[in-house]
Amino acid sequence: MGPLSAPPCIQRITWKGLLLTASLLNFWNLPMTAQVTIEAQPPKVSEGKDVLLLVHNLPQNLTGYIWYKRQMKDLYHYITSYVVDGQIIIYGPAYSGRETVYSNASLLIQNVTREDAGSYTLHIIKGGDGTRRETGNFTFTLYLETPKPSISSSNLNPREATETVILTCDPETPDASYLWWMNGQSLPMTHRLQLSETNRTLFLLGVTKYIAGPYECEIRNPVSASRSDPVTLNLLREWPGCPTISSSYTYYHTGEVPKLSCLTDSHPPAEHSWLIDGKFQQSAQVFFIPQITKT
Ligand SMILES: *[C@@H]1O[C@H](CO)[C@@H](O)[C@H](O)[C@H]1NC(C)=O
Ligand SMILES: *[C@@H]1O[C@H](CO)[C@@H](O)[C@H](O)[C@H]1NC(C)=O
Ligand SMILES: *[C@@H]1O[C@H](CO)[C@@H](O)[C@H](O)[C@H]1NC(C)=O
Ligand SMILES: *[C@@H]1O[C@H](CO)[C@@H](O)[C@H](O)[C@H]1NC(C)=O
Ligand SMILES: *[C@@H]1O[C@H](CO)[C@@H](O)[C@H](O)[C@H]1NC(C)=O
Repeated sequence: MGPLSAPPCIQRITWKGLLLTASLLNFWNLPMTAQVTIEAQPPKVSEGKDVLLLVHNLPQNLTGYIWYKRQMKDLYHYITSYVVDGQIIIYGPAYSGRETVYSNASLLIQNVTREDAGSYTLHIIKGGDGTRRETGNFTFTLYLETPKPSISSSNLNPREATETVILTCDPETPDASYLWWMNGQSLPMTHRLQLSETNRTLFLLGVTKYIAGPYECEIRNPVSASRSDPVTLNLLREWPGCPTISSSYTYYHTGEVPKLSCLTDSHPPAEHSWLIDGKFQQSAQVFFIPQITKT
């Protein structure tokens, strides 16, 4: 048996490809058997489904265990406990009516809600020699499958370089990180693009043609990731540029069909109307004069 006065260590345990993280807050003081680990089954759970927090390598001859929400081991966060002697189950203030603790310490959570995501602490009490009880505390973070995000924009048609656009990745998801893509690539480095502290909000400080285009956001946690549909920012110039009419030839013969093009430097593309002597002809960028006669 190892010394009981061993200082507590902080350790991080990974289980099967990091699908979960369980941190061992305090090293088990008694016989150094296999370490207690907690695994979510299934590892990816979505709202409305059930998840079992499976406890592996539970030591023998325990007095009982208590499950807490978050890492605070106070009465307010007490979900439920199991007392081995008498097989008694006790419920605390954090019990929602959907949790079931089994004799092997595993916790079943039914009909999972978004509020169920986050960390859980399993407090294990081991019977002692009458004067001393050994305890161990193990935390586990439950992640839900990330929802498909959507981007909300303060303005989809900003005026060039003058208007600030704020893009937000919805919904707000706990224990998740946010990533942004522009034109399918990571964001270009420019002072015009700034992220909020959580990266959930993207500020475009004056949109130029270099940062106009499709934006996507992604919500990611250790068990899943999902990307939004693209949202495209169109740059609006204050005025369409001055149109210029061009033609391939300066002179045409009778019977030829001259082609005139109107070029306008404008974004989004301008609409064009052709008029002859002030009379409307058609809407198109290219205009074929139907009949040409000598005047
Ligand atoms: C558990 O308790 C039983 C009976 O009290 C005892 O025989 C056994 O050695 C204990 N096992 C451990 C691992 O302490
Ligand atoms: C604990 O008990 C539950 C319910 O009977 C079971 O589904 C689960 O597999 C058990 N856990 C372990 C680690 O055996
Ligand atoms: C699951 O929870 C939702 C909302 O909390 C509730 O409307 C629904 O009836 C529950 N479903 C089951 C099967 O308990
Ligand atoms: C586990 O947490 C409980 C409640 O906060 C505390 O009394 C106990 O000392 C902790 N156990 C260890 C081994 O740190
Ligand atoms: C925000 O994103 C940057 C990279 O663009 C990354 O380095 C940083 O860790 C992220 N911050 C958060 C809180 O996720």
